[in-house]
Amino acid sequence: MKDLAMSFHYADFPTYRPRRRRRTAAIRDLVRETVVTPRDLVLPIFVIDGESIEQPIHGLPGVSRWTIDGAVTLARGAQALGIPAIIVFPCVAEAGKSIDCSEAWRPANLANRAIAELKDRLPDLCVMADVALDPYNTLGHDGIVRDGVVVNDESVDALVRQSLSLAQAGADILGPSDMMDGRIGRIRQALDGEGRQDTLLLSYAAKYASAYYGPFRNAVGTSQALTGDKTTYQLDIGNANEALEMVGRDLREGADMVMVKPGTPYLDICRRVKTRFGAPTFAYQVSGEYAMIRAAAANGWLEEDLALMETMIAFKRAGCDGILTYAATRLAQLLAQ
Ligand code: PBG
Repeated sequence: MKDLAMSFHYADFPTYRPRRRRRTAAIRDLVRETVVTPRDLVLPIFVIDGESIEQPIHGLPGVSRWTIDGAVTLARGAQALGIPAIIVFPCVAEAGKSIDCSEAWRPANLANRAIAELKDRLPDLCVMADVALDPYNTLGHDGIVRDGVVVNDESVDALVRQSLSLAQAGADILGPSDMMDGRIGRIRQALDGEGRQDTLLLSYAAKYASAYYGPFRNAVGTSQALTGDKTTYQLDIGNANEALEMVGRDLREGADMVMVKPGTPYLDICRRVKTRFGAPTFAYQVSGEYAMIRAAAANGWLEEDLALMETMIAFKRAGCDGILTYAATRLAQLLAQ
């Protein structure tokens, strides 16, 4: 968009006083350029096996792993506040982890049962699922490891199986977060082949090899399993052109929406993606970003609600259409006031 302030001259001071527009809350409301609503938010939900269990997560204050019954309650509350979508992350027990990751496409696995139950109880809620093998992988990687290498094509075969299984369970949106090459096209083709033209793909297209995923890996129980890091498939943190290339590629392969991840440290990427492609663009305020704000607030160093809201405004201002955030419910409550 063209910068109006550069091409247009307001009157000079004292005829023109910009502070007139900041004088009262009502006037500020009237001229605000960027707003956040609960409809912009997606709530991540961690699920575990069992019944009536809540496990607080170390490193993610205010966020817990829930059994499916609790996950439904949490999702219902979010929906009542105007949040349109949730994303399910399973915390898979040791018995569900293997080298070939086959638990990922077992029809009755934890993620699929959670999705089916959520769709059954809350049919109008949009249910999203993460596509990646890490919760099912003995080695903690998002793809299949052979001789110490995360192999691309065999991983894509597995991701296709996982995607079909999640779609069968009822997921409305699949979010491939694995960063393998060629997976969007293959997943789209496989979904269409099964008559699932309506299943959406939100590609984690610009996903960086970030240090900010720490608390999440603890939440889903992959941090101990992970051998090495994810730098052979996730983006190098110094690269922006490559991120744009990945977004373009995934859109050409059939992605309906794209995501930038992490969020706050990559707002430049969000803006460039939106300006260049115009596609529905999402940011993931990842676990480490959320944890930083909560930790500073717990120390009395900043005001948590204001800081959280400010990050949301920043995402929207940078061009994002929606944000995945662990603070979704809290923010929706604040916005309702
Ligand atoms: C796994 C996945 C990760 C996140 C979402 N999906 C972690 C990773 O790539 O290691 C991170 C989310 C967060 O940190 O909140 N494919």
